[in-house]
Amino acid sequence: MYMSTYKLEKHLATRLKNMTCSAIRDMLKQAGRPGFISLGGGYPDPESFPIDIIRSLRILVKRKYKNSIYQYGRSEGLIQLFEQLIPFFKRTNRSIKATPHTISITTGSQQALAILAMMFIDPGDYIAVETPTYLGALQAFNPFQPRYIELEVDDEGIVPDKLDKTISKYPNIKFIYIIPTFQNPTGKTLSLDRRVRIAKILRKHDVIAVEDDPYSELRYEAEPIPSLQSLIPEKVIHLFTFSKTFAPDFRIGGIVAPPEVCETATMIKQGLDLYTSNYNQAMVTEYLAGGHLEPHLKKIINLYKPRRDLMMSLIDTYFPLEISHTNPLGGMFVWAYSNNSKTIHINTILDEALKKNVGFVPGNPFFARKKNSPFSMRLNFTNQSNSNIEKGIKILGQILHKYL
Ligand SMILES: Cc1ncc(COP(=O)(O)O)c(C=O)c1O
Repeated sequence: MYMSTYKLEKHLATRLKNMTCSAIRDMLKQAGRPGFISLGGGYPDPESFPIDIIRSLRILVKRKYKNSIYQYGRSEGLIQLFEQLIPFFKRTNRSIKATPHTISITTGSQQALAILAMMFIDPGDYIAVETPTYLGALQAFNPFQPRYIELEVDDEGIVPDKLDKTISKYPNIKFIYIIPTFQNPTGKTLSLDRRVRIAKILRKHDVIAVEDDPYSELRYEAEPIPSLQSLIPEKVIHLFTFSKTFAPDFRIGGIVAPPEVCETATMIKQGLDLYTSNYNQAMVTEYLAGGHLEPHLKKIINLYKPRRDLMMSLIDTYFPLEISHTNPLGGMFVWAYSNNSKTIHINTILDEALKKNVGFVPGNPFFARKKNSPFSMRLNFTNQSNSNIEKGIKILGQILHKYL
């Protein structure tokens, strides 16, 4: 009632012009419908949450940390968590040598993206992103009104020579945002050779990179590849999260970065939410200290790998030939696309899929500059049973055959 008589728009800040609600979250509003099969969100399977461990950790945290855990906490993060993170970062998938001065805890890695946007982007600044890139990063960056440069990618991720040329053309790029391992939305991974070449390019130019890595623990095949930050720590801000390897609701993520970046992040965080829940940080601390991560990873990899295999083979069987797909070695997503389907819009496919109780995320919102977006869809394989994946892909296949 209040809103209908009040002309909100004329009072809004101009930065809101660049903001839209997440297409994923809009679509997921439908996901609660009975029988709805969502291949949309980047969600872990709730069945995989380590409920018994969480229960025992709650008892342990209460006993060990007493009432003081409910007090205001340090903006940098809980000291005890730092002690556990230092060995965690040494796992080969990150290979990072961190110290307490190079870690900052944030409320999910999503907050780290918002903090970095506030730290670096003035209106009109150039930032370079993969084509396509994580929609939530665009949402975090957009209020600061950057101009996007879309970096060319192939099956192995960013093409280093093209990156070199782009930076030479736009030497003032504020940062390059990159998800090198099991990328969201494509599932692609930047090879070690390319990481080494990109590190050289960063060294040559006066430019930094933000390396977002929520997925590298979820590897289903091949050997882990060290992070970009491990190759050039002084020029890379590395993001991590426990959303996919423990549970998203704890909202524990953060950055590993040179100390001056961490200090600035802390200053910004104080204006946003003062600090991240001590209690939730203590839960992650004890999860790591108790040695629960490794067995849990085994469990979820055993759950997700067959789902990935199944989804890829079903796409091969039921989708029209002109649809190609990526072959992710880990993570949560397969990207299906066609370079020929100019006449039919992906939203037509989505509308019909939603009517048949199946959801996916159309590719367009993952492109920083919309006009480049091809016919594409992001398909999540972690949050549905094998039988639902089969039903969902078969239905999508029928719709695609009808229109393509
Ligand atoms: C690439 C990427 N970055 C950041 C996030 C945010 O994750 P969280 O805030 O739960 O740590 C996600 C979530 O799906 C993601 O895919």
